[in-house]
Amino acid sequence: MPSGGRSVLVTGATGGFGRVIVFRLAGAGWDVIAGARDRDKARDLVADAAERGLALRTVQLDVACEASCRQALQECAEMTGGGGPWALVNNAGIPQAGAVADVDDEQARRLLEVNLLGPARLCRLVLPAMAARGGGRIVNISSGLGRVPWPMGAWYSAGKHALSALTHCLRVEAAHLGVRVSLIEPGAFSTPMLGRALNDLDTLRDPANPGYATATRLFTAVDRRVPGPEPVARTLETCLTARRPRPRYVVGREARFLVPLHTMLPLSLTDRIKHTVTGLPRTPAAAARPPGRRPGERSGPVKETA
Ligand SMILES: NC(=O)c1ccc[n+]([C@@H]2O[C@H](COP(=O)([O-])OP(=O)(O)OC[C@H]3O[C@@H](n4cnc5c(N)ncnc54)[C@H](OP(=O)(O)O)[C@@H]3O)[C@@H](O)[C@H]2O)c1
Repeated sequence: MPSGGRSVLVTGATGGFGRVIVFRLAGAGWDVIAGARDRDKARDLVADAAERGLALRTVQLDVACEASCRQALQECAEMTGGGGPWALVNNAGIPQAGAVADVDDEQARRLLEVNLLGPARLCRLVLPAMAARGGGRIVNISSGLGRVPWPMGAWYSAGKHALSALTHCLRVEAAHLGVRVSLIEPGAFSTPMLGRALNDLDTLRDPANPGYATATRLFTAVDRRVPGPEPVARTLETCLTARRPRPRYVVGREARFLVPLHTMLPLSLTDRIKHTVTGLPRTPAAAARPPGRRPGERSGPVKETA
């Protein structure tokens, strides 16, 4: 469907998904405004686009900074003749790998600022102009890990889980304004993000915790075999051009299999699977065990509640 030159603001446009998304949308005739935190990366992006015969504009945008968000949207309004972008794609995100016991408040706060508060703030800031125009689109990029919480990446899963909840509430709240809100939940795709997660594991590594070594091996193996991000960009375009976009799009074969499976299985079983895959032990080491207990022995009846 031709976009009719509709404007779209994409955050984190200099990264793995963002880059492919803005090139795809610009190629399809969208008026793309690429949000970039770093001016040099923004210049490189525009130059790369020009080499492909594509035109896009950029705004400097750090989603974790309220002043930057306000300034960027002001610039978008000027670029679009006062109305602001017809669509907002909250794509910018960071990982935070590491055990819950090791990630400190500052690291957790940083993740929530970028992956949750930033997107929420941008939604709030674009809504009035969308409402005044009588319509618009918001697409938030979550992750399959938002619905399959993964040990050694708990804060990332928690942030994406919260972003999903926020998106599903906003969709209902904004419907009467003509604003359609969707969530995209990709599985793993090859971008610099996995490398950043590996850096987190290196920084926080606790030699006494076997989860670090296994997570490093797992992320490295995943990084080698996952496909490039084109399916995510394709899905995003489908979502933006659909007359009635779906509330949620799960992207990637593994995510389409694992997300519903995780929802269906009891937690006792998904815990077992996660222990096996992560190498995290199910029982305390002998020295830490209360006297008289054997591995796997329960202190009393345990009832699963969810
Ligand atoms: N890759 C995957 O397998 C995967 C799977 C599921 C979901 N996702 C989600 O998809 C989105 C894109 O991820 P990606 O894989 O493309 O990651 P990426 O390659 O690391 O790119 C992330 C982008 O976000 C930008 N960013 C980081 N902090 C920012 C901030 N405070 N303000 C504005 N921009 C900021 C980065 O800019 P700089 O370059 O300046 O840091 C970069 O452009 C994220 O929300 C991620 O959680 C990724």
